[in-house]
Amino acid sequence: MKIAIGADHGGFELKEAIKKHLEEVGGYEITDYGTHSTDSVDYAEIAFKVGNAVTKSDEKILGILCCGTGIGISMAANKVKGVRAACCSDYFSAKYTRLHNDANILCMGGRVVGAGLANEMVDVFLNTEFEGGRHQRRVDQITAIENGTF
Ligand code: RB5
Repeated sequence: MKIAIGADHGGFELKEAIKKHLEEVGGYEITDYGTHSTDSVDYAEIAFKVGNAVTKSDEKILGILCCGTGIGISMAANKVKGVRAACCSDYFSAKYTRLHNDANILCMGGRVVGAGLANEMVDVFLNTEFEGGRHQRRVDQITAIENGTF
């Protein structure tokens, strides 16, 4: 499975921990869109890169984004057409945002969650399929809002 990952300085250490975890689990092809240190950077640029990687490919690619809270980077990512980024800080939300929202990017805060919980959330996010059914209609409505056709 292909994964696009990114973080600003506030999420850098969490991103590194998640990358290490996914490399240990194996089976993932990970592209890291930065940042590569704790030097201050603006999260919108990273969100834009990961959002494009997830939405502009013919292949299924899921994204992981981290900033200090997970909030700014999720707001920015959700401005990329086709992105459904979910900012989560608990396991249940990380699971159900795949099941019900077909979220394609999981966002987390490096100053909010520890690496242990984050890795559990990443695992369930990456290994849970969208349920479709009545949830497809609701996701289609989100897309209609995005397209101005709602
Ligand atoms: C950076 O200090 C911080 O504002 C950013 O990582 C994020 O938390 C914004 O939502």
